[in-house]
Amino acid sequence: MATSRGEFSSSFGFIMAAAGSAIGLGNIWGFPTQTAQNGGAAFVLVYLVLAFVIGYPLLMAEFIIGRHSRSNPVGAYRAISGGKPFVPVGYFGIIVAGLILSFYSILAGWMVAYAVEPFFKLIGADDMAAWTVNQGNLSRNILFTSIFYLLTIGIIIGGVKSGIEKWSSRLMPTLIFMMILLTIYVLTLSGASDGLKVYLLPDFNKITDAQLILSALGQSFFSLSLGVGTMLVYGSYIANKENLVKLGVFVTLADIAIAFLAGLLIIPAMYVAANTGTEIFDEGGNLISGPTLVFQILPELFNSMGAIGVPAALVFFILMSIAALTSSISMLEVPVSYAVDTRNLQRKASTWVIGGFFWAISIILVIYFDKLFGLVVSFTTQYSQPLLGLVICIFIGWVMNRNSVLEELKKGNPEVANSLFMKVWPFFVRIVSPLLIVIVFLQSLNVF
Ligand code: PFF
Repeated sequence: MATSRGEFSSSFGFIMAAAGSAIGLGNIWGFPTQTAQNGGAAFVLVYLVLAFVIGYPLLMAEFIIGRHSRSNPVGAYRAISGGKPFVPVGYFGIIVAGLILSFYSILAGWMVAYAVEPFFKLIGADDMAAWTVNQGNLSRNILFTSIFYLLTIGIIIGGVKSGIEKWSSRLMPTLIFMMILLTIYVLTLSGASDGLKVYLLPDFNKITDAQLILSALGQSFFSLSLGVGTMLVYGSYIANKENLVKLGVFVTLADIAIAFLAGLLIIPAMYVAANTGTEIFDEGGNLISGPTLVFQILPELFNSMGAIGVPAALVFFILMSIAALTSSISMLEVPVSYAVDTRNLQRKASTWVIGGFFWAISIILVIYFDKLFGLVVSFTTQYSQPLLGLVICIFIGWVMNRNSVLEELKKGNPEVANSLFMKVWPFFVRIVSPLLIVIVFLQSLNVF
């Protein structure tokens, strides 16, 4: 079976793909938003610690399980543990990955819409431009969500090398370049330094706030695409010669770096907008976040920039769309890999059917947005991802044979047995990470 599965052709290709999955709306939108809501730099600090203490160990766990089994989550649990209690968890992960795709594609569709709008403006089609950015218009939302699905499906049909790897390797450098350019520009505008202060000077009183820690945990799971099997499946396509420990470090650092950069862009941008008269605080005195931030404050800022505003808006929303696309493909790949390698189905047909299925769920979410959207987001990201992560820690720490784990790590890294990694990681993945997940989780249910 291994020969018919795809494989990434280089470590660069893999890093672009896995970092592409990790880096998404969660980094560029979620991270700055959460930072703004949770006391600025205090949140950044807690997030950094959790990303290293829980995120990286879990990412490694998924890579190891994936490459060792060369399979999707269901196949992996079946092969490694001989089945039973873990197989349903594999199925659950696959469903959650699909549900994340369903809500994520709606947000991504909005980004695409805003990226298209400047073109209509440019050709003087003002009515079309206004329709494109009308957040409340149902047909507009259905159209752009569907366009985003077509892009995602189109890439996944191409498979690992000529779909995921090829497109991630093209899109990710573009995204990083655009983002650095835009950040430098925003930081030169007046008002930006006030934003920088809020972003970089921590309010230490907030650091032990339960809500802050919970948000930071959720954010680190979501941002590193953990729990639902995305990284496990990408890991199953890594060549044996690659050093997993190193790849994991690169992906984690890239994810953190882009989130940090996004904060340098968005929070100063808000203060620049405030300088031109935009209200950036809500009634409670907190920085405005969520859709209002992205689809109102930032567009107002772009409008106030004069001639440079249109290209700046274009760059921003194209980079958001790219970030979303390299993440959504990794979500769709999870169920598709199950269909292809466990059910022996054709990739192309499976991608259309599975993509179509989750598209239909997205359309239901668009129609019943107010009732359902928030529910699906919290069910998948706040509850399911950490719980699935907990199971993965238990699986690799307590169930999977230690020699198999070591053997897997040794493949691209013969010295690993004596490395610092092997002294620290097993302890984290067996004890520290699961305990922290449970504590933060119980905290969120108000048990303490
Ligand atoms: N990591 C992505 C982001 O930060 O936007 C979101 C994500 C991708 C979550 C893949 C879950 C997933 F399986």
